[in-house]
Amino acid sequence: MIIITSPPEHFFGEMDLPGDKSITHRALLLGSIARGVTEVRGFLDAEDCRSTIGCLSRLGVNINIRGSRLFVHGRSAQLQAPTGELDAGNSGTTARLLVGILAGSSFESVITGDSSLKKRPMRRIAEPLRAMGAHIIGPDDGDNLPLLVKGKPLKAIHYKSPKASAQVKSAVLLAALQADGETIFEEPYQSRDHTELMLKHFGARLDTDSCRVKIKGRQSLQGKLVPVPGDISTAAFFMVAAAIVPDSDVLLKDVGLNPTRTGVIDVLKEMGADLEIENPRKWGVEPVANIRIKGGSRLRGVNIEGEIIPRLIDELPVLAVAAAVAEGETVIRNAAELRVKETDRISDLTAQLSRLGIAISEKDDGFVIKGGKRPIGADVDSCGDHRIAMALAVAGLVARGETAVSGAEAVNISFPGFMQSLRSLCSKKGH
Ligand code: S3P
Repeated sequence: MIIITSPPEHFFGEMDLPGDKSITHRALLLGSIARGVTEVRGFLDAEDCRSTIGCLSRLGVNINIRGSRLFVHGRSAQLQAPTGELDAGNSGTTARLLVGILAGSSFESVITGDSSLKKRPMRRIAEPLRAMGAHIIGPDDGDNLPLLVKGKPLKAIHYKSPKASAQVKSAVLLAALQADGETIFEEPYQSRDHTELMLKHFGARLDTDSCRVKIKGRQSLQGKLVPVPGDISTAAFFMVAAAIVPDSDVLLKDVGLNPTRTGVIDVLKEMGADLEIENPRKWGVEPVANIRIKGGSRLRGVNIEGEIIPRLIDELPVLAVAAAVAEGETVIRNAAELRVKETDRISDLTAQLSRLGIAISEKDDGFVIKGGKRPIGADVDSCGDHRIAMALAVAGLVARGETAVSGAEAVNISFPGFMQSLRSLCSKKGH
């Protein structure tokens, strides 16, 4: 349970973010099928990435952790038949990318997950992988976990994905690496491109052009050093907190600023937040920078729709909180994907933010939020979703009275230290 008793007078200080979740998963997965050792520096040590480590260990991959560094002993595409089911826990990225890798293996595996992940759609990966020759069997014609994947020789495809999804793209690219011929993957808008960047870093040849990727099969990877930037999706909670608590000045250090992920910065700037990017540089193949945000600017409502959606899909719960504080109306459209995340984030977030007195209404593919009214503290629930738990805690920072978030242990999925970090910024400057 998280309890926010009263709004902080100040939200102030510097913060190191936990490592990026998407990049940590990919370093583990690509490292496992590469030659040699991959060192993952500043990896995210949270439940989702522990699920990936658990699955890979069952596939015979030796992974050692030394402090904030993780060493993956690659098996050169020779994973072992697993000892038992592969449990992806709550992690969609683990399940979907792993199925892409296992589709071309020489053995059978069963991939499963927790009750939330078992409800999430898998046909989006089963369909293109089956077109490549994969055998995937599971409930509702392979739309749900547990999935039985019978490894088969694969052939290249030209796949036009109906969705902008990095998980679908990555599953196809990882299968394509093992296939005969050249695979072309196209998507309507560009989704995050960490897989493409890391594949190139590991020595693979691929042609990338925003919404289209071409990759030849039968390529081998070489393990590399992967420095992991701070996770912008986690930084977003602190950006919004600093933007809405009037007397704030927060420096978020070494945040990953891959342009396929920075929609939240564009939107906060458009809302009028005082946000500056400092010391931009590169960590390996990924851009990073520090972000300074000051409170006190009056925020205004905006429209969020179209091609920016994949660039901020995970940040929409906390942007809804910013919208509640902003003057005027915020309309979020084209975000139906939120319904198939860890929870149905459209209906669950609407229900929980409404309890705080926020004027939010649910639409098929988003929300309408009428801002400008101060939230009122109440008992709310994470619904078992890490991003809803953190968004509610941020709302609690500006609510009148006490906000209690039950089921707050959900934050362990992506940031076990969330509450300590939030408190340390609230307590500075004599609060
Ligand atoms: C992710 C991709 C996104 C995102 C998820 C992580 C990834 O999902 O919402 O949290 O690491 O590839 P989709 O690919 O389903 O859009």
